[in-house]
Amino acid sequence: MKTTNMKKLIVANWKMAPQSLDEAKKVFSVLKRAKFSTKSLRVVVCPPSVYFADIVKNYKGKTFLFGAQNVYVNNNEASTGEISTDMVSDLGASFVIVGHAERRMMGETNEIVANKLAHVIEAGLTPILCVGEKERDSQGLYLRFVEQQLIECLSVLDKNDVHKIVIAYEPLWAMGAGHTAVDNREIHQMSIFIKKILVSQFGRKIGMEIPIIYGGSVDADNCAGILKEGEVNGLLIGRASLNPYTFVDVLKKLS
Ligand code: PGA
Repeated sequence: MKTTNMKKLIVANWKMAPQSLDEAKKVFSVLKRAKFSTKSLRVVVCPPSVYFADIVKNYKGKTFLFGAQNVYVNNNEASTGEISTDMVSDLGASFVIVGHAERRMMGETNEIVANKLAHVIEAGLTPILCVGEKERDSQGLYLRFVEQQLIECLSVLDKNDVHKIVIAYEPLWAMGAGHTAVDNREIHQMSIFIKKILVSQFGRKIGMEIPIIYGGSVDADNCAGILKEGEVNGLLIGRASLNPYTFVDVLKKLS
């Protein structure tokens, strides 16, 4: 994926919501009816996997792409309760969120994330690798934390596969209810920092081509500023994507 002139990637992460299929269908029907231009946008909706069969498989349009919020690290059938890359891909997913902060809080380590990343790429899906610090400190240790996440999570990838990923910078302290988005200048600084690590690991050509998106309290008011001043290639949107009217507002402001 080339970042130069690339369409902005706008990802809706519905998380573990809504609580019924009926509601999920209602949310998606508002999105389907919305009028916005996809000339400069690629919009990816990531509903809970249990809704995939109804929402994703039945969708015949071209406006929305779909992603899974997580998959298991391999396709071994003896993995009770898990969901495989084959399953989500069969139902129409083309992206998978990997290593989301909320999953890391449940114990997903960099090693698990690295293996998932490789597995998702092997399945022909695009992984959205989430990295981000839990908190900031004045000595800049949070930068080392993000650097380590990146290096360890990308460690098992074949150099030829690295350009197939998307990186989402999502600091935990800016995510979820009661928080606010990171300052646009700091988003820009972090995206430069991430690019430098990618370039030092994989060389300039590959490092500069990996899209970097931002997530954490993005809404209709701050989305345009984050893209422009934060100079990122897209947004990963949680809460604001669950209200379809707010999400459509975001899409209209960016299209
Ligand atoms: P938020 O979450 O937009 O609700 O802060 C972002 C995410 O979880 O990806």
